Amino acid sequence: MPLLADWLLRHSVVMCLLLHSLVLMTFCFHHASTSCSQSCYCSQSEAGGKTVRCSNLGLAQIPQDIPNDTQRLYLDFNLLTTVPANAFLDLHLLNELDLSHNELAQLESGAFKGLASSLQFLDLSSNKLMALNPEAFEGLQLRANLTHNPWHCDCNLQNVMPRMNLEPASLAGIVCHTSDPADIGAQGNSLLLTKDLDLCAVLKKTTDVAMLVTMFGWFTMVISYLVYYVRHNQEDTRRHLEYLKSLPSKQGKSEESSTISTVV
Ligand SMILES: *[C@@H]1O[C@H](CO)[C@@H](O)[C@H](O)[C@H]1NC(C)=O
Ligand SMILES: *[C@@H]1O[C@H](CO)[C@@H](O)[C@H](O)[C@H]1NC(C)=O
Repeated sequence: MPLLADWLLRHSVVMCLLLHSLVLMTFCFHHASTSCSQSCYCSQSEAGGKTVRCSNLGLAQIPQDIPNDTQRLYLDFNLLTTVPANAFLDLHLLNELDLSHNELAQLESGAFKGLASSLQFLDLSSNKLMALNPEAFEGLQLRANLTHNPWHCDCNLQNVMPRMNLEPASLAGIVCHTSDPADIGAQGNSLLLTKDLDLCAVLKKTTDVAMLVTMFGWFTMVISYLVYYVRHNQEDTRRHLEYLKSLPSKQGKSEESSTISTVV
């Protein structure tokens, strides 16, 4: 009898523990999927929009459990270095996205995919962006803060600008930190507002020179081949004639050689 009671007691403790963890787990999963991201703070405005704040949390990656009814998402003052493709794919209601004050050096193609119809304001200010990847911004027509980035103004960036559908005021925020060519006077100026600068001109010039050199090379090759060909043939003809002359002179042969010499 005491043995059975002991058995029951022990097992009920185990059962109880199991039940407890089960309840806890359901609670956690429920919590994650519906109300808020684990690491962030959520609030619901009176108008019904959800705001998720993940600011200043030392995040190196974008949390994967942002609720899909989020309208405003703050990821500023973190340690994000890149925005991967499809990072916000399910956030169909997202209206405002703050990625400012991070370490962002690049935005992958398709980074903002799924946000084209909803997103109105994108803050990328105070990051480490030097170049623009137009494929990251595909379909986006919005206001963006692109200021306080170390933009590298070169032919590439200048070519990309007209392909961006962002508001002109947003593009004006691209102020050149460095430039190629370096001494063209772009530094400290907005790339959009210095329209008379042609950062591709130097590149065109070098391409032209390269083309010229290549063409000259081909030309030289063709000429030398022609010269060689003509000389070689002359030699051949001369040898042939000498051979014909050395033959015992018959009527037909001498006629032939005379025709050849007239041809030559
Ligand atoms: C969020 O996800 C749930 C479950 O997948 C879905 O039923 C709901 O329609 C989604 N909400 C939005 C706004 O996309
Ligand atoms: C853009 O961001 C900078 C720094 O993060 C801030 O000072 C500035 O007010 C912002 N501009 C706009 C138009 O939001």
